[in-house]
Amino acid sequence: MSRKISILVIVALITVINAKSLKKNPKIIIVGAGLSGLSAAVRLIENGYDDILILEAENRIGGRIHSVKFSDGFVDLGGQWVHGEKNNSVYEMVDGKYDFGETGFDNYYPTFMQSDGATLDQEMCQKLGDSAFKILFSSYDEMSKFQGSVDEFFKSAFKKEALRAKADYSLTNEMIDFYEKEMNIWNGSMTWKDLSAPLHCISGHNAGIQHLTWKRDGFKKFIDFLIQDNQEVLDKIMLNKKVVNIQWTKNYENKLPIVTTADGYKYFADHIIFTGSLGVLKDQHRTLFSPQLPITLRRAIENMGYGVIGKVFLEFDQSFWPINEKNWVAYGFLWTKEDMKELKGTKREWLLDVQAFAKVDAFPNVLEALLAGRHMKEFETIPDEQIIDDTMWLLEKFLQKQLPRPNSMTRTKWLTNPNYMGSYSFNSVNAWKFNISTKDLQETLFNLKKKPEILFAGEHTDELYSSNAHGAVNSGYRAADELLKYYL
Ligand SMILES: Cc1cc2nc3c(=O)[nH]c(=O)nc-3n(C[C@H](O)[C@H](O)[C@H](O)COP(=O)(O)OP(=O)(O)OC[C@H]3O[C@@H](n4cnc5c(N)ncnc54)[C@H](O)[C@@H]3O)c2cc1C
Ligand SMILES: *[C@@H]1O[C@H](CO)[C@@H](O)[C@H](O)[C@H]1NC(C)=O
Ligand SMILES: *[C@@H]1O[C@H](CO)[C@@H](O)[C@H](O)[C@H]1NC(C)=O
Ligand SMILES: *[C@@H]1O[C@H](CO)[C@@H](O)[C@H](O)[C@H]1NC(C)=O
Repeated sequence: MSRKISILVIVALITVINAKSLKKNPKIIIVGAGLSGLSAAVRLIENGYDDILILEAENRIGGRIHSVKFSDGFVDLGGQWVHGEKNNSVYEMVDGKYDFGETGFDNYYPTFMQSDGATLDQEMCQKLGDSAFKILFSSYDEMSKFQGSVDEFFKSAFKKEALRAKADYSLTNEMIDFYEKEMNIWNGSMTWKDLSAPLHCISGHNAGIQHLTWKRDGFKKFIDFLIQDNQEVLDKIMLNKKVVNIQWTKNYENKLPIVTTADGYKYFADHIIFTGSLGVLKDQHRTLFSPQLPITLRRAIENMGYGVIGKVFLEFDQSFWPINEKNWVAYGFLWTKEDMKELKGTKREWLLDVQAFAKVDAFPNVLEALLAGRHMKEFETIPDEQIIDDTMWLLEKFLQKQLPRPNSMTRTKWLTNPNYMGSYSFNSVNAWKFNISTKDLQETLFNLKKKPEILFAGEHTDELYSSNAHGAVNSGYRAADELLKYYL
């Protein structure tokens, strides 16, 4: 060996040894194999940190991305649309590699239907719909200064607009009810009295088409893109592993935190990234963490908003809705006061939460209902057969004709699933009152040696795009980056 080469070899060896002692390859446990957990794992693996264990309570990965076989493809019980192309990490990852579909939901008008079968003046309804959208999404200057709820802000502004348009009193109220459901669906709230007007205006917006679809593939297709270059992430996942307790070492320098699963196993780790939903944290944080979480984090968990939306998919032999009309998107349901009263107290009362039945991109024979509001628990506990009976009753009532039974039906149950306790977070009136933001939900827990021990990721922790799939992805990257920075 020449002198020159041997020196090179020695330098190389020293570099390797140095890298090893620097790297340490700490043991990292990620709780949850949803988008945020998988994104964190991918980012860590890409950077050479591969001593990872992902503990997932369910018997599947994906979390609130849940595409299920239906008709001749997959429909989404969870995340369904890519909201906006600009600065959207989900869109950017697959840009040019996937040919998205489109629902036509952007600035759409449903065909407004009234519960008593009366013919509505669609032009008037659309005029009111325009006003509603303007108030909700383009009056941020005034809205951000309004200290109350979206409900109060909307009602006073909308009533003025309706007067100006000479809309009649009952239609005005029916439209208010309709747009409350619209907002409850956007935000997962039970009532828009819980939505903070000033905080409504601060969330990040991704410009571009707002309702891109994964056609017959479902949102699960994105997970394939996410892990395609790091397939080993799959080997690090253990399913059916519900974490019941995380003992962290707040008051120690050299102890390791211990994660206990429902089957009694215990796992040690240097770092834990917890990605369970805000609903799970609200419900279980007292038993999940010992010692208790710091008061700042508990206050944030308790006061930030979190709720649920629901969906029902129906498949028919043939469409009976105007599928060939290019601009037709959905039937929107307006309830007269009398019909609403009549339904209250009956087993079908939950139908008042159904806002619309819409077409589904790439499935010509499928209709999808979206719902949110005060009856979501009832909705989730009603048996499938009754869901079919009730939704068909609803469609026949509004369309004023007999319709065929659907071939199949599938529906959501996010609220009553203890691993989710709902669908996504929102900026609540209480968050405003107590000056709480999604950033407060990122608070990392350190041991006495300032080692980051528990990090929080998940949709609800993302500063800009909380509640969205891309917010979840960004939050996973952020938590992983925080660990990478610690080892730098
Ligand atoms: C009905 C619905 C519709 C939506 N529509 C859209 C949409 O159109 N567009 C969009 O961008 N976003 C949408 N979203 C939001 C998007 O799906 C979520 O923001 C995102 O998937 C959340 O990912 P996450 O990793 O934060 O949480 P999760 O997906 O909830 O991942 C957390 C994981 O942790 C697991 N877990 C929980 N507790 C424990 C425990 N104790 N031990 C072990 N594991 C545990 C859970 O099972 C889950 O797999 C929708 C969500 C829902 C529910
Ligand atoms: C784009 O998203 C990133 C997070 O992915 C964020 O840090 C950045 O501020 C966003 N940019 C704009 C212009 O909103
Ligand atoms: C409700 O959802 C919309 C759309 O995602 C968002 O722009 C708005 O900030 C949310 N409002 C609240 C109060 O969270
Ligand atoms: C609200 O909280 C932020 C930090 O999250 C802080 O900078 C700000 O001063 C607080 N405002 C009030 C009025 O307490």
